[in-house]
Amino acid sequence: MSNILIIDDERAIRKTLSEILTYEGFKVEEAADGEEGWKLFNDKNYDVVLCDIKMPKLDGLEFLTKASEKNADVPVIMISGHGTIETAVDAVKRGAYDYVAKPPDLNRLLITIRNALDRNKLSKETRVLKRKVNRVQEMIGDSEPIQRIKETIEKVAPTEARVLITGENGVGKELVARWIHEKSNRATAPLVEERNTCRRKSDCSHQ
Ligand SMILES: Nc1ncnc2c1ncn2[C@@H]1O[C@H](COP(=O)(O)OP(=O)(O)OP(=O)(O)O)[C@@H](O)[C@H]1O
Ligand SMILES: [Mg+2]
Repeated sequence: MSNILIIDDERAIRKTLSEILTYEGFKVEEAADGEEGWKLFNDKNYDVVLCDIKMPKLDGLEFLTKASEKNADVPVIMISGHGTIETAVDAVKRGAYDYVAKPPDLNRLLITIRNALDRNKLSKETRVLKRKVNRVQEMIGDSEPIQRIKETIEKVAPTEARVLITGENGVGKELVARWIHEKSNRATAPLVEERNTCRRKSDCSHQ
């Protein structure tokens, strides 16, 4: 079930949207201003945010900026009043997924939400696929030393231990490092490579 956050200071708009979206099978939460919306956005995971533009405390554009800095994946749909269509267009240029005018046309709103959810799903799938495509190359060999290396990788990768990998040029130190990352609890986070950090030039084969 998809989670939708509605941020609008007009109670009537919140209620209407919330009723319709709940009826359509979405899980809906409401916030009465940008600040409350921002708190909820920080605490929970939403699939789509509907956000008014003119609001007390934190307005729609400020919310959009903060939200896309934190998590650019969640589509934000602006709800625009009479005087704020231009601002809504501006918001879309700044990364909002789309905007709907007040009072919301319900069919258009539902189409916009479904499209936003689809885009979100696609970008998640793309990320998973990219990870699969970039999978670490298999470690070839089943000699005793290679088996020992594989066992050691299995043992140390899930721990917080620091690992020093030594060996002559081209023996596969980087491959071992990639496998340790792949089997670690941080496998979904990037592997950060630092180069040329040797303290003494005479110890270093990087230049
Ligand atoms: N056991 C292995 N199975 C498959 N490929 C391997 C194996 N060992 C090394 N390779 C391949 O050999 C090449 C060199 O390995 P790698 O870059 O990991 O070595 P390195 O020890 O980091 O080298 P350098 O000292 O030059 O930094 C890579 O293409 C790596 O994938
Ligand atoms: Mg290397």
